[in-house]
Amino acid sequence: MTAQVIDGKAFAGRVREKVAAQVASLKAEHNITPGLAVVLVGEDPASQVYVRSKGKQTVEAGMNSYEYKLEADTSESDLLAMIDKLNADDNVHGILVQLPLPKHLNEDLVINRIAPSKDVDGFHISNVGLLGTGQKSMVPCTPLGCLLMLRDHHGSLSGMDAVVIGRSNIVGKPMAQLLLNDSCTVTIAHSRTKNLADVVRRADIVVAAVGRPEMVPGDWIKEGATVIDVGINRIETDEGKTKLVGDVDYDSCAAVAGAITPVPGGVGPMTIACLLANTVTACCRIHGLAEDNEFTA
Ligand code: GUN
Repeated sequence: MTAQVIDGKAFAGRVREKVAAQVASLKAEHNITPGLAVVLVGEDPASQVYVRSKGKQTVEAGMNSYEYKLEADTSESDLLAMIDKLNADDNVHGILVQLPLPKHLNEDLVINRIAPSKDVDGFHISNVGLLGTGQKSMVPCTPLGCLLMLRDHHGSLSGMDAVVIGRSNIVGKPMAQLLLNDSCTVTIAHSRTKNLADVVRRADIVVAAVGRPEMVPGDWIKEGATVIDVGINRIETDEGKTKLVGDVDYDSCAAVAGAITPVPGGVGPMTIACLLANTVTACCRIHGLAEDNEFTA
């Protein structure tokens, strides 16, 4: 079997178009422009690229983008004070603090300072708890993007065997929760999992989110399974250049899978598209307006 390629780039383009239309009608009908504040502490090069891209796409969707770049040695109290200000700012509907933070800052403390209603990352413990109990919450962007692609490809996910490789708070755990809420039978595998190959071979859906280049080979994949590759790893090629690869070995997995997301052009573009969608969702909820639920879990 040669897998169908799930085109995350095209899907993300459709999400962005619909988000832009929602933004236009919020402006026209309610005189409200959704606003997203992104806070970057320090100069991590990958984070700088992401933050720039988030700002650009926010503006392209017709929303206001507020970018705050803080020195790497910013104190915790200064960062918390900035979050308090953004929480109180009526022009700001979404707040995202780019992770990872410099080591001297307590990530949990910082994230939990964000007002849950403006937590477009869905990392605040209130949102984690709401998602875990199947209640309306803000949903983390990368897992939400994966879920939307899976639903689009399969329709219902009910009863499917899903294996999530990776147990991070950003991707693995919320992904498992979302799949469970969609009635999958879910296994979370991680670095201590025994017989990982056998665990993965059972899966109708494999979500790889470990951050290790090409670690899942094709002979771990069940014939016809759907493979969602969250990894974005830069590796050196034999010619001394660099290229982006995922957490799965694309060619060998694509030879057996039923469907697969490429890297780049799969999950990556969906993450920012879902961030934009979450910002509109947050804006509608804050203003007590009907929300378009197409891009929520
Ligand atoms: N760093 C890597 N992924 C993310 C994300 O989804 N949100 C934030 N805030 N930081 C990240």
